[in-house]
Amino acid sequence: MSVIILGIETSCDDTSAAVIRDGYMLSNVIASQEIHRQYGGVVPELASRAHQQNIIPVVDAALRQAGVGKNEVSAVAFTRGPGLLGSLLVGTSFAKGFALATGAKLIEVNHLHAHILSNFIQEKGKEKQLPRFPFLCLLVSGGHTQIIILRDHFEMEIIGQTIDDAAGEAFDKCAKVMGLSYPGGPVVDRHAREGDSKAFRFSKPNIPALNYSFSGLKTSFLYTLRDRLKEDPQFVENNIPDLCASLQQTIVDILTDKLIKAAAATGITEMTVAGGVAANSGLRNAMTALAQEKGWTAYLPEFRFTTDNAAMIGITGYFKFLKGMFSSQNVVPAARFEDMGI
Ligand code: KG4
Ligand code: ZN
Repeated sequence: MSVIILGIETSCDDTSAAVIRDGYMLSNVIASQEIHRQYGGVVPELASRAHQQNIIPVVDAALRQAGVGKNEVSAVAFTRGPGLLGSLLVGTSFAKGFALATGAKLIEVNHLHAHILSNFIQEKGKEKQLPRFPFLCLLVSGGHTQIIILRDHFEMEIIGQTIDDAAGEAFDKCAKVMGLSYPGGPVVDRHAREGDSKAFRFSKPNIPALNYSFSGLKTSFLYTLRDRLKEDPQFVENNIPDLCASLQQTIVDILTDKLIKAAAATGITEMTVAGGVAANSGLRNAMTALAQEKGWTAYLPEFRFTTDNAAMIGITGYFKFLKGMFSSQNVVPAARFEDMGI
């Protein structure tokens, strides 16, 4: 009998539902919330309200696209955390109600674990080589920047992480300073294609071991703009492509320097990237070039599986289903990573 997982993701500002059958993705529907753009960042209260409006139509569309009836679902997998509590509550409550109504099992999923396992999403007819254990994952999102060793689907060890801002935050905050729209990462990426990455230099952190820091870069970026604006009030408008290209190059260099160190320290050559910033073209090109140079095998997830999506929650739910890792109706959301396991 088939194992059919309904995945639900509502941790931040994307409402998403996906269906995974026997490890293969059948549908992945994402409703992004445009309302936050005008505020330059996610407004938690508005996010929860939008999830509440979106959740039923999104789940309905995912089941319909997959050609699966709700009573055929073996388990509903949902993001328990980390994320915004009000947003998580919508997905958690929906999943519990769905499980009660249909008799499906309930499976809680750690959002970051799911970003990593997004590398295992398969589609029928488009099968790809999957990462082999042990592998390293550079997990780079709006909230996290970590280097993680995966020894199997469930054994992970964080060997490096940011001590302040995340890489995605560095993109978003610097973009905001330039007056670009939110979220800034994709906008910087687009402008960077037309710019010179050597036009400006921003300071790189000097942090021990495999840890990261991005708050100094943000300050260095801000000071460069402030100084240049004194001489030329049009400085930002006239230099957007070069500023974006130089900023992106600095962030990519910071990220890859530590990954090279991590590879040397562990001897691991299977490399994955995950999280929203894994969509960045500069980072993807750097990973491909490094794979050539260092003899790594680099796995780059498809764009639609880098930012928040329910297919990654569904595939993680599938692996948990096979291990019988189910949750009870008492489960509550966990806003912080530290408050939950995987
Ligand atoms: O994983 P994600 O969708 O949400 C979190 O869990 O945080 O990541 C969102 C982050 C944002 O900071 C966004 O600016 C960044 O990913 N991002 C990018 C790109 N696409 C999304 N950053 C750089 N280049 C991109 N192409
Ligand atoms: Zn995420």
